[in-house]
Formats: sequence, structure tokens, C-alpha cells
Amino acid sequence: MTIRTIDLFAGAGGLALGFRQSGLEFEPVFAVEVEPAAARTFKRNFNCHVHDGPIEQVDHFPEADVIIGGPPCQGFSPLGRDRDDASRAQLNELWQHYLRAVRAVQPKAFVIENVPEFQKSAQFARLLSLMETDEVLKQYAFNFGVLNAADYGVAQRRRRGLFIAVKGVAEVPWPPRPTHGPESDTKVEHVSVRAVIEDLAPYPQITEIGETPDGGQDLHIGRNPRPESLERYKAIPEGGNRFDLARVRPDLLPRCWREKKTGTADVMGRLWWDRPSLTIRTEFFKPEKGRYLHPVHHRPITHREAARIQSFPDDFVFEGTKVEIARQIGNAVPPLLAQALARHVYDLAFGDVRDA
Ligand SMILES: C[S@@+](CC[C@H](N)C(=O)[O-])C[C@H]1O[C@@H](n2cnc3c(N)ncnc32)[C@H](O)[C@@H]1O
Repeated sequence: MTIRTIDLFAGAGGLALGFRQSGLEFEPVFAVEVEPAAARTFKRNFNCHVHDGPIEQVDHFPEADVIIGGPPCQGFSPLGRDRDDASRAQLNELWQHYLRAVRAVQPKAFVIENVPEFQKSAQFARLLSLMETDEVLKQYAFNFGVLNAADYGVAQRRRRGLFIAVKGVAEVPWPPRPTHGPESDTKVEHVSVRAVIEDLAPYPQITEIGETPDGGQDLHIGRNPRPESLERYKAIPEGGNRFDLARVRPDLLPRCWREKKTGTADVMGRLWWDRPSLTIRTEFFKPEKGRYLHPVHHRPITHREAARIQSFPDDFVFEGTKVEIARQIGNAVPPLLAQALARHVYDLAFGDVRDA
């Protein structure tokens, strides 16, 4: 039995990959993604029809059993504050196109992924009210909450808002069962950064996307930092940040940081070897944007390291430029988290079918 999925706002397909990796026969039949490079990545890895344009232009959605997807989050995210009101409003309305697809397809289940802030927004309150009143939506039981990817085996503390709805069941238990950490049955420890990247070369040999000796995609891409940047990296110990720089080498502190003595502790941060990383965003190759310095080497993490920390396997091929690929990696739902969602959806919506 194939469980046909539609992936909306599909990105590279981290969510779809986890559903496929679950081994439960989920297979995308249609995807929608506006960014051409991300759409090409999805097409390449899943070989289904991808509408590579805005969802607003999709008039017809094919039959499917499950709809999954993450409407863009900047409208709700603290990082989207610098957008103007009109652009934020437009982003915030996009999730309603997701509901348009649900109403048209009436799948057995649907999954909405977003930043945790979405669940506190007026739009989310509206969604909850529609789930009670809309003729189609009220057939679904649902549950929601904020999940941490680290609790599902990802080497990253990444908190995401998840909403799961299933038709024809009494309730949707919450949360999907964690596989790692104190809340898991087995109490297996969270996966560390060391566990997923330690085998990679300390200093990459390439500065552009290349090919590995076995013909795969080489994303272990180095950069050529200015000598001053290198000196800054050296001043920051494992787990340290820009405040260490201020303490150890105040002469190297950029003026904007000299004048701003408080603020996030993650800027110019260095990862810990033996902990999960913090959230990998779309510009992980810029140390000034977050906690992206390698635990011990004097450089930011590479695309391959970021993809591994997001739990992408090395044989998943990304299309596009270095910047486009970084965006796809940083935007993705970690496939291992998606696998846990897939199992949960499967048990609730399709378990009986397979057992029969
Ligand atoms: C958070 S990312 C999705 C990540 C994806 N679920 C994954 O796991 O890889 C949101 C995606 O929505 C896409 N997007 C933004 N506006 C869109 C629109 N109007 N129509 C279709 N896709 C859109 C963005 O290009 C981005 O790739």
C-alpha cells in the first residue's frame, strides 16, 4: 500500500524525506515550492510532480492520503520583524492556502509545521476555531504543541510547532513518542554534534561544491576567512561567544558589538562537541549570525556538517548555489523528526489497514 502525500511549501523535502525514511510507504505524489532551486532538489530526490511556483497559482490538487507542509515562518518568527507589514501579512495568509488544499483533497491526515510562535498567533486561534466549525475540518481530531528535534535523535535543539489532524479518530495523542532524552522510554542520550560530524576533515580542501571520490555531492566546503576573522575565531573557546572575544581580544571586537554590551549569547558562538547544536538557520556559514563555529576548528560549520546536524544523509543531493543550498538546509524539517511524525500519523490513520 502506498500512502500518497502532498507536500506544500516543500523546500528541499526534509519533511518528505523523513516520511519516506520511516519505511511506512509514504510517497509524495505532488509538491508545491516557489523557489526554483529548492523545487529542483525536491524533484531530483522524490521524482514526483512539483509545481515550481507560488501556491496561490495552484487551482487543482491531486487525490492524496496525507498533506504535509510548513508554510513559511518569517511572518511569525522574531527573525521576520524587519519585514514590512504588507509582506508579513502576505506570509501569514499563506497557511490559509494550506487549508484550501485540505478542503479540496480531504486527506485522511494532515500535518502543519511552523515556528513555535505560530501557535500563539491570531492566525492559529483562527485555525483552531475553523477546526470546530468548518464542515470539512470538523471531521478531524487534532493535537498540537512544540517539539524539540533533539528528542527525536537529531543532533540539534530545534524547537518547532507541530499540528497533526486525523480524520475519523477520537483523539490524537500528544506528543509523538520521543526516542531520545529524559522523556523517552529508553532514556537514550541526546545525539551530540561530535557523533554526526567528527569524521569529516578538519579543514576542507574545496571552496565550491564538489564531488566526493565515490561520485557523491561534496558539500564539505571551506571558506577563506580574512586574517582578522581567523584571529576572532581563535579567541572563542568551545561553547564560547562574542563575550569571550570582548574579554580576550577586545582589540578585535567590531564597533557594533563594542557598543552593544548585552544581547544574544549565540552571536559568534562556538558549538560544543558533546551536546546537540542549537538551531541551524539558513546562514550557518556566517559565524556572526549565530552559534556556528566548529567545536574545535577555527571556521564555521560547512554545508555538509549543517546537513548532517539536520540529519540529512550524505546521499541526499541538493540543487542550486551554495547560498541556495544553505537556505534549503536551514529551512528544512530535520528528517529524523519527520520520521517520528510519520510513525505517529501512520499509527493513528493507517495502522489498522496494515494490520488487517
Ligand atoms: C520552512 S520552508 C519548508 C521546508 C520543508 N518543509 C522541508 O522540510 O524541507 C518553507 C518553504 O516555502 C516556500 N514558499 C514560500 N512562499 C511560497 C509560496 N507562495 N508558494 C509556494 N512555496 C512557497 C519557501 O521557498 C520555502 O522553501
